[in-house]
Amino acid sequence: MNLAVIGIGYVGLVTGAVFADLGNMVICVDNMEEKVRMLENHEMPFYEPGLEEIVAINHEDGRLSFSTDLADAVRRSEIIFIAVGTPPMDDGQTDLSYVEAVAAEIGRNINDYKIIVNKSTVPVGTGEMVKDIINRFKPSNIDVDVVSNPEFLSEGTAISDAMSPDRIVIGAPNKRVAMKLIELYSTMEKPMVITSVRSAEMIKYASNAFLATKISFINSIANLCDRVGADIEEVTRGVGLDSRIGNKFLRAGIGFGGSCFPKDTESLLYVSRKYGAEIEIIDASIRVNRKQPDILMKKAADALGGLEGKTIGALGLSFKPGTDDLRESNALAIVSALLTAGATVRVYDPMAMEKCKPMCPDATYCEELYKVAEGADAVMLLTEWNKFKHLNFNRLRELMSGDMFFDGRNIYDPQVVRRAGLRYYGIGRGADG
Ligand code: UDX
Repeated sequence: MNLAVIGIGYVGLVTGAVFADLGNMVICVDNMEEKVRMLENHEMPFYEPGLEEIVAINHEDGRLSFSTDLADAVRRSEIIFIAVGTPPMDDGQTDLSYVEAVAAEIGRNINDYKIIVNKSTVPVGTGEMVKDIINRFKPSNIDVDVVSNPEFLSEGTAISDAMSPDRIVIGAPNKRVAMKLIELYSTMEKPMVITSVRSAEMIKYASNAFLATKISFINSIANLCDRVGADIEEVTRGVGLDSRIGNKFLRAGIGFGGSCFPKDTESLLYVSRKYGAEIEIIDASIRVNRKQPDILMKKAADALGGLEGKTIGALGLSFKPGTDDLRESNALAIVSALLTAGATVRVYDPMAMEKCKPMCPDATYCEELYKVAEGADAVMLLTEWNKFKHLNFNRLRELMSGDMFFDGRNIYDPQVVRRAGLRYYGIGRGADG
C-alpha cells in the first residue's frame, strides 16, 4: 500500500520504517528540513537499537522516503498516519495544535478518498475533531474516514514492539475502513481488537495509566517495606507469580519517566476531571511518582549527614535503558537535585551524556563508568543499563573515598555489594546505614 506518516518522532519514524519493511511504500514527512536531510544520509535523530539498520535497508530499497512536502505525500497515499507530537500543557491537558495543523493541511491538499489514522496519543474525541477540521478545508465532493490506531511501542525495544505487538487496536468508524486496516496489518499475524474510534483512544490512555499505576503501587509498597523491614524484591516475587497480577511493571525504583507515562496520566486525569468523573487513583499514582526520587535523595542525605560538599557518582541519566531520551527522567531529576543541594556530581551514561550536557552543565561528565567513583563519597545507580549490571564493586570501592552505594533500581544482590566493603541502600530493601 502507499502510506504517508506525518511527524518523524519516535512513533512516526518507527512506524514508517516497520511498514516499509513489511513491503509498503512509505513517505515520512516532517517540517524540519534538517531532520529529513539527516535521515536521507541514514543519520538517526535519536538513538533506538536496530532503527538505523531498518531505515537504511528500506531507504536503499526505495520503499522508505523522507520529505518536507506534506501536500505531495497526501496526494500519493491511500492511508495517512498522523504521528506528530502531543505535548502536555501546564494544566495537564494535551496540546493538540500540531494535530490540528496537520489535519488542516491534509484537508487543503486532499485529492481523493483517504483514510486518516491517528497514531499520536490523543484524548477521546480527537478523531472526530480531526475529521471536522479536514471537512472544513477539503472540497465537498471528497470523503475521508478517520481511524484511531494507537501505538504501544516502548523506547529501547521499539522495532520489535512495532513488528510484533501484543495486540493491534483499530478504532474504525465503519466496516470498510476496519477491513482496510486489517489488511494492512494482516502480515503481522497478531490479535486485532476492532472498536469504535473513541474506545481505541481510551484503550491507549487506560493501558499507559494502568502500567504507571502498577509502578506507583509497587513503589508505595517498597517504601513501606523500608519501614517494616521487608524486602520488596522478595515481596514482588511472591506477588508477581500470581498469574492474575503478573510480574511485569512491578519493579520498584526511583519512579517512572519518559515521554508517555507522565504526560498520559496527567492528560487522563485532566479529561476525567473535565467530565466530572475524576480518576482519583491516577491522581495518587502521579503524586507517588513525583515523590519517588526524594526517597533516594533522603536516604543519601541521611546516610551522608547532608549532601552539601559531598561527591556523588551517578550511573545513568536516561529515563530508562536503551535510549538517550531524557524527557521526564527521574535519574536526571536526582542529578539536578544533588547539584542544587551543593554536591559535586560525577555522571556517566552510555548514550545520553551529549544530550544532557546543555540541560545540566554543572555535572561532571565522565568518559568511562568507573570514573564516576573517583573520590566519591557515594555512588548511585539511577538507570539500569546492561553494562552496569555486572559492576566490579571491588574496583569501584578502591576508587571511592566513601563506602556507600545507592541502588535506585534494585538491580544488585546486596550481599555482592557488601562483600566489596560497601554499604548497600536500595528501594524498599531495608538499609545498612
Ligand atoms: C511506555 C509504554 O510501555 C508503551 O506501551 C507506550 O507506547 C509508551 O510508554 P516507554 O515510556 O518507552 O513506554 O517505557 P517503559 O518501558 O514503559 O517505562 C516507562 C518508565 O517506567 C521508565 O522510566 C521505567 O524506568 C519505569 N518502570 C518501568 C519502572 O519504574 N518499573 C517497572 O517495573 C517498569
